[in-house]
Amino acid sequence: MTGSARLPGDSTAPAPVTLDDVSNPSSARILRQDDPEHAELLAQGWTVAATSWGARLDLTAGSDLSVYDRAVSAARRAGYEVREVRARETSALVDLDALVAPDFPDTPASHHEPLPLNLAGRIARGQWRAFGAWWQGRIVAFTILYRFEGRWEVDRTAVEASHRRRGLASAVKSASILTTYAEGARRWGTGGAMANAGSLAVNRGLGFLLEPSWHTLLPPAETRGPPPGHHASTGPATQA
Ligand SMILES: CC(C)(COP(=O)(O)OP(=O)(O)OC[C@H]1O[C@@H](n2cnc3c(N)ncnc32)[C@H](O)[C@@H]1OP(=O)(O)O)[C@@H](O)C(=O)NCCC(=O)NCCS
Repeated sequence: MTGSARLPGDSTAPAPVTLDDVSNPSSARILRQDDPEHAELLAQGWTVAATSWGARLDLTAGSDLSVYDRAVSAARRAGYEVREVRARETSALVDLDALVAPDFPDTPASHHEPLPLNLAGRIARGQWRAFGAWWQGRIVAFTILYRFEGRWEVDRTAVEASHRRRGLASAVKSASILTTYAEGARRWGTGGAMANAGSLAVNRGLGFLLEPSWHTLLPPAETRGPPPGHHASTGPATQA
């Protein structure tokens, strides 16, 4: 998701982010469902305008990785090349991201954002990682991660429309988990819009566990939602 904004999170739980933090004139609030203030605002007549989810995957040194191995192997058997994206390959990744941008959920809490202009540099420095699937030499699926608070946080995951439902999102995410696991990582985060059934299913299938949802709350006077054209960010924040 960033498909959503990169207020850390496509995932779980970076600190709550108000829409004001992202230059929104609205007085909307983004709070985790279990935040005591959430209940207080609802009691005052605030309403939930959008729901985002965050999820975590925690593995240990002895974890069974077969689900990830199987996902990568299946895609390779089907003819896809699945591997890490090199810094010099980021322009093709950026083009694919732009192509699929309209397919990302667009809610008050979650939307697509352009990739950072210096993505290649971030990848070259190892701060961000990307994993892709290529079909006949053309990248058709990717997932992007960055380091955040002791875990690898998924910024976004997407698959070209004609290659969906072939296990590619599962394969590239699995490749990212296997590679970072081999380097010592044990925790990953992801998230997105509750409306995105596909993304939820992919992540559940890989063992991510949902955390309490994040709600975009609007005060009584703003129940018709934010102004047209406005885009805010999720609390969880990314879309993966
Ligand atoms: C979401 C997305 C990444 C899924 O990619 P994908 O390669 O089709 O996913 P997979 O094939 O690995 O799916 C694995 C499983 O997830 C589930 N799933 C995938 N897409 C689904 C959908 N649209 N609706 C319901 N379940 C879905 C299925 O259970 C699927 O297994 P199956 O096809 O054998 O039933 C892809 O639809 C996409 O790029 N969407 C636009 C961008 C986006 O929304 N990204 C996520 C932001 S939060």
